Amino acid sequence: MSNPIEGKRIVLGITGSIAAYKAADLASKLTQAGALVDCILTEAAVKFMQPITFQSVTGRKAYVDADLWGSDGHVVHIALGRAAELLLIAPATASTMAKLAHGIGDNLLAVTALAADCPLMLAPAMDAGMFSHPATAENVRILQERGAIFIGPEPGRLASGLVGKGRFTEPVDILAQVRWHFSRGGVLAGKKVLITAGPTREAIDPVRYLSNASSGKQGYAIAQALQDAGAEVTLVSGPTALTAPVGAYEIPVVSAAEMKTAVMTALPGMDAFISVAAVADFTPAELHPEKWKKTGESAMLALNPTEDILQAVSDWRTIHQPSMKVVGFAAETQDLLENAANKLAQKRLDLVVANDVSGVEKIVFGAAENRVAFLDRDGSVQQFDWMDKYQVGEEIVRYLVQPD
Ligand code: CTP
Repeated sequence: MSNPIEGKRIVLGITGSIAAYKAADLASKLTQAGALVDCILTEAAVKFMQPITFQSVTGRKAYVDADLWGSDGHVVHIALGRAAELLLIAPATASTMAKLAHGIGDNLLAVTALAADCPLMLAPAMDAGMFSHPATAENVRILQERGAIFIGPEPGRLASGLVGKGRFTEPVDILAQVRWHFSRGGVLAGKKVLITAGPTREAIDPVRYLSNASSGKQGYAIAQALQDAGAEVTLVSGPTALTAPVGAYEIPVVSAAEMKTAVMTALPGMDAFISVAAVADFTPAELHPEKWKKTGESAMLALNPTEDILQAVSDWRTIHQPSMKVVGFAAETQDLLENAANKLAQKRLDLVVANDVSGVEKIVFGAAENRVAFLDRDGSVQQFDWMDKYQVGEEIVRYLVQPD
């Protein structure tokens, strides 16, 4: 298993906008993600960027209009168009969109677009007035009706100095959209998965809270891996510094109680629930309405237990959705497998991912890697070596696609 861009053939069209310089970064990012990127620059694009730049970052020939009229001219556009699994035009100018909308094939890119029968993705970049012009708006509508996927443009400051909708979407965000596009039809296509991630915060007073060291990285990495496999992902997340995968539906929460409400509301219709969040087990018995002042004396903080969300989900599925898979984590600092097996049995889970968080070998919180063991309800135990947190997600995908 790998990221869904790996090995994909993408034709990247670059047209005449100052944002063409950002297309070099995009071509590089797509290549690094494993795509085979064939770039086609229009004549206007060549005013901003040279083909050699694209050739250098993709390791493949970058095409210009001269190639349309060259010795292989009669086939180059057919070959590029037919082989492409995605035609991505980024940046796309108003003029190129007009050509595509009306089937005008007067340059290599436009004629390749006519020859291609793959999905078309466009990331427009132009001055705001040009994007909102009725002619452009009509061309966008025509292309959308024909199934073209638009990424942006974004609102913001434009090269003209004006502020409006016309900014080229950042390459990293276009990459995320391409990734999401190729994930459809993956092994988990049509499956809905609910994931919790991150820590929770239990308020003591308006400025203080109880929390834990969870960064959310493991939960978000699992969300990305499941999304890459084509699942429809809902991510209920406590406060983290992370961004949810493009395409995932994110529900931000703060406290354990809020997380429970969000989870129970989202649960009906889910095919799997994956409880990665480090949910607080205790919450202050009372919330100080004002900042708790020091008195010089020692102070006591009374705590009440929180509800166990995973347990509640497991109980709920027994009655309402027996086919739903329930996966829990067991963060332990001692007797890892024994404690994890107890959680599996007590919470009646399908799978528990046992996670040594003692920090004896390596720190797990906030790190890129994790070392886990899978214990399933049939009694099998699979111990993995240290691996990237995304790979833990891939192993969960593998588990979910197994027949019962
Ligand atoms: N969990 C939960 N709600 C809670 C506490 C934990 O949903 N209030 C979930 C976690 O997301 C994890 C699993 O339960 O999937 C186990 O969490 P963990 O913190 O390892 O154990 P606890 O159940 O809290 O038990 P203990 O504190 O005794 O280790």
